[in-house]
Amino acid sequence: MREAALAANDTFGTAVRLAVTRLRLSNFRSYTTAAFDGDERPVVLTGPNGAGKTNMLEAVSYLAPGRGLRQARLNDVDRRDSAASWAVAATVSGPGGNIEIGTGRDPATPRRAVRINGAPVAGQSGLADYVSVVWLTPQMDRLFLDGASARRRFLDRLIFGFDAEHSVRVSAYEHAMRERARLLKRGRRDDTWLAALEETMAGRGIAIAAARREFAGRLARACAEGSGPFPRAGIAATGHVEDWLGEGPALAAEDRMRQRLAECRDEDADSGRTTVGPHRSDFAVRHLEKDMPAEQCSTGEQKALLIAVVLADVRLQAAERNVAPVLLLDEIAAHLDSGKRRALFEEVRTLGVQAWLTGTDRLLFEGLDSDAQFFTVSDATLHRAA
Ligand SMILES: Nc1ncnc2c1ncn2[C@@H]1O[C@H](COP(=O)(O)OP(=O)(O)O)[C@@H](O)[C@H]1O
Ligand SMILES: [Mg+2]
Repeated sequence: MREAALAANDTFGTAVRLAVTRLRLSNFRSYTTAAFDGDERPVVLTGPNGAGKTNMLEAVSYLAPGRGLRQARLNDVDRRDSAASWAVAATVSGPGGNIEIGTGRDPATPRRAVRINGAPVAGQSGLADYVSVVWLTPQMDRLFLDGASARRRFLDRLIFGFDAEHSVRVSAYEHAMRERARLLKRGRRDDTWLAALEETMAGRGIAIAAARREFAGRLARACAEGSGPFPRAGIAATGHVEDWLGEGPALAAEDRMRQRLAECRDEDADSGRTTVGPHRSDFAVRHLEKDMPAEQCSTGEQKALLIAVVLADVRLQAAERNVAPVLLLDEIAAHLDSGKRRALFEEVRTLGVQAWLTGTDRLLFEGLDSDAQFFTVSDATLHRAA
């Protein structure tokens, strides 16, 4: 284990840490305004329940593309009772020096507005060139127990961190799938139109499955190294489409999927579902030492597995992209015994990431001390702690 940690540190040697050094919030959830001014070290936010800790992490999550840590609708983020829309501005230090990011709800469009170094950019995907944020929240505690869709979203989000195009593929696939379901439901048998949609679904669908399979393989290798006392995890993207890719070339899998979709039209029209495609795939995680699927592990073991997966993702980004993402760990410390807590802090130190950690009690973070910057949050106000 020690060797693995050192090896990770070596690969990490050339990676540059992304760090939020300045953050401004306005009309963001419980915050009318809030200001964070700090340095590149990890950030610890402590305060009572409901103080606004998770809201602060959510604001950081909007510095990367996507729907943020709560997957919220943009309207819901506006501070209640406020007429103005929310905004977040930040300075992020990274490989190219400091960049300024502004984002928020633009009342004129349904999309999130983004500015990079003062210039508006179309779409959020441009953020991916500058910022990568990885998170673990209490909402993810049931990831291995609930339905596969949350696991697919989790895996896809990790892939977005390496390949912004993946989100384009997923949206195009889902759009074509919805369109096909709508046509089938209305009983309209426009075969040419259906075939065109199925063509898109097969092309995008196989590309999605291939990206998931390939990424799961890389992540599995990073996970097999292990992170201190966190369990070594086995990882695989599973499903019919993934099986086809294992059996032959991608083009053959594409043909097979197109053919299956055409065959399943009646069945899908009756059921209102889509029988075949990567929307039915899963992301399977195993506890290797125990040789047990994650869903059969104890709650604590599942949490430890999730931490191991996320830490492996950070190492992979550092090794492949030369960038250490910002890591948001919401209420993680409270669930770990003191040994694992210290191991997590050690890992944060080794990886050199700017982790944002939250908890109700400062004592949970004993051992981080001068390696981190401490803030307290109360009544939606941030104070630097001594
Ligand atoms: N859109 C909103 N407008 C105003 N307050 C909100 C909004 N969304 C959430 N809140 C409030 O923010 C408060 C702090 O939430 P949170 O950051 O989750 O606290 P914690 O410190 O426990 O993580 C909650 O009391 C919640 O009611
Ligand atoms: Mg919280």
